[in-house]
Amino acid sequence: MTISELQTAIQDLVQQLTAEAPGVDVRTKYLGKKGLFNQLARVLPSLAPEDRKTAGQLINEVRTQLEATVLEREKTVGASTNWVDVTMPGKKPAVGHVHPISQAMAEITRIFEKVGFTRVRYPEVDWDWYVFESLNMPPDHPARDEWETFFVDVPDTTKPVEYDANNPRKRHPSLVGGKMVLTTHTSNGQVREMERLNSTPPIRMINIARCYRRQQDATHTQMFHQFEGLVVDKGITIQHLKGTLDYFAREFYGPGTKSRIRPFHFQFTEPSFEVDFSCHICMGTGKVGENKCKFCKSGWHEVGGAGMVHPNVLKAGGIDPEEYTGFAFGWGVERTYTLKPGLHIDDIRLLYSGDMRFLEQF
Ligand code: DAH
Repeated sequence: MTISELQTAIQDLVQQLTAEAPGVDVRTKYLGKKGLFNQLARVLPSLAPEDRKTAGQLINEVRTQLEATVLEREKTVGASTNWVDVTMPGKKPAVGHVHPISQAMAEITRIFEKVGFTRVRYPEVDWDWYVFESLNMPPDHPARDEWETFFVDVPDTTKPVEYDANNPRKRHPSLVGGKMVLTTHTSNGQVREMERLNSTPPIRMINIARCYRRQQDATHTQMFHQFEGLVVDKGITIQHLKGTLDYFAREFYGPGTKSRIRPFHFQFTEPSFEVDFSCHICMGTGKVGENKCKFCKSGWHEVGGAGMVHPNVLKAGGIDPEEYTGFAFGWGVERTYTLKPGLHIDDIRLLYSGDMRFLEQF
């Protein structure tokens, strides 16, 4: 290369730099290790020895010029595109979160475990024996109609055995088989838990599971969840039941929430009750100012059932009802959850719609 060729190359380089588009990282492109300036400087040894001094000066000058132009450009169009502000907060990766009903189940579990209950799970496709018969509902008993049951299409292996209320185990499915159903309630866990503990109280169970019924509207889904409490020991009374319900109401809905029990009928408890919790909007008064409370209308929300375990149920689990007594309660997780302060979920089907716009709110 000759000096004049070098001068033309330098001019070209400077012109090229001034014409660069705004997004280009000119510092790396021109002044970087493998940049255009270094490429140019590499021609130095190919020049005639007498030209090298002048060439060296020219190259030094262009370096200063390039530096100045790049610096000027960084001031006006901003720094190179590779420039990173390490103090900026990072981009959060999109991660999922626990479904609101799973959150509610975890909370219910925590509340009962705190007072000595053990969380258990039992089959959600179960023998008729555990779902109905061991709960004091012999075959063809009209009380079964309340549970709109899905039956599983497997051959019924039940052999005709005469029902004996004093010895319901005579029809135990492990001995005689029976129909399979999708569990209509978590009460199927009651006799299963008695069996798991070899019919030896104390029992303090909280069973949370999916349940299934032939129903579908704004307040019912074919699949839903229930939680079931069972306590069996010597000297258990309704007071223990009431105290447990009040404790749950306070823990789940907040201080000041109360429970109320009203007489009812279930085959598997005697006496039986319906359970209400006081409304957190009107604090159980039914009134907001002069008007009726729109959320509850009466001051209370009905949530589920409860009672003292029927002697036949204890017997079905191999426990002597003369020696032990117990209480039980059970109801839906979805309903319990949607009554929480601050939630207004009019249609519980939304919970299972998979609509992220809805679910992301929880
Ligand atoms: N299993 C009942 C239902 O699904 C609710 C229930 C009532 C559960 C009374 C209980 C009880 O444990 O004692 O409607």
